[in-house]
Amino acid sequence: MKHIPVLLHEVIEGLALQKGMSVVDGTINGGGHSREILTCIMPKGSLLGIDLDASLVEMTQKNLLELYPDEDICVLQGSYTQVQEFLDGKQCQAIVLDLGFSSLHMEGGRGFSFEDETLDMRYDTNRGIPAYQIINTYQEEELSELFFTYGEEPLSRRIAQVICEKRKESPITKAQELSELVAGVYRRKFKTHSKKHPATRVFQALRIVVNGELDNVATFLSLIPEILSKGGRCAIISFHSLEDRMVKHTFHQYEKEGKGRRITKKPIVPLREEIINNPRSRSAKLRIFEHI
Ligand SMILES: C[S@@+](CC[C@H](N)C(=O)[O-])C[C@H]1O[C@@H](n2cnc3c(N)ncnc32)[C@H](O)[C@@H]1O
Repeated sequence: MKHIPVLLHEVIEGLALQKGMSVVDGTINGGGHSREILTCIMPKGSLLGIDLDASLVEMTQKNLLELYPDEDICVLQGSYTQVQEFLDGKQCQAIVLDLGFSSLHMEGGRGFSFEDETLDMRYDTNRGIPAYQIINTYQEEELSELFFTYGEEPLSRRIAQVICEKRKESPITKAQELSELVAGVYRRKFKTHSKKHPATRVFQALRIVVNGELDNVATFLSLIPEILSKGGRCAIISFHSLEDRMVKHTFHQYEKEGKGRRITKKPIVPLREEIINNPRSRSAKLRIFEHI
């Protein structure tokens, strides 16, 4: 499955890129946004790509260097929260974060899809605990809270209860097992089917917690004035209301403190055509900030 970059033209335009700029793509994945960034900053630009997923880093570095052998391109495995360390004290002139997981993860065998795969869900399998440990060890109330808070799951209590009953028989370790349990709760409650898989919200909630996604965004937001040079812009695409709220408040706060200005007062969202071509983009919100 190919990953189609979300809000690509809006990001490129919003970052106001020019030849020779130094740019950080903090969630480079397969380089969807970075390819376009490179066409704007060449020649003599520099690109630092970061991704937690080690399986993508080498491939993306190789692919980008094949396309642009003379450019200064470096792709590193790690978290965008380590960006200062990766920049080695220097500042960059533009930075983009495209949060969450990509279509490439759906076939990575790590339980991001609803298939017969181990329910792991970590972008970096060397950090943190896999999702199946949460499913098999959290108290019923904790699971219910997690599904409700991070997935806005309306049937969070019933789903948590069914999980706790099932795991008494044997631990739940596969993504398919969990997705079928959730689908069963929905089948018993509703007769009609929605287009979305009924386990989508539960999987989203688990992914966010497993990877500490909200904490990472908070840490990153606090670094922006230090890593971005004056006049530099930061574009963040979020897919979750809690993430978007954090971005919105921080950019607003920075503006009030005179640290910069919001290029977007309201988030940029995909046009209808983009949503039709790439349904994954439907919940995307892009906010852009300029450091002054
Ligand atoms: C939506 S994808 C980015 C897609 C990319 N912009 C493109 O168009 O090809 C998000 C990527 O962020 C990575 N990621 C998630 N959390 C991260 C973090 N804290 N630090 C670095 N990468 C992270 C994931 O592994 C995933 O590859």
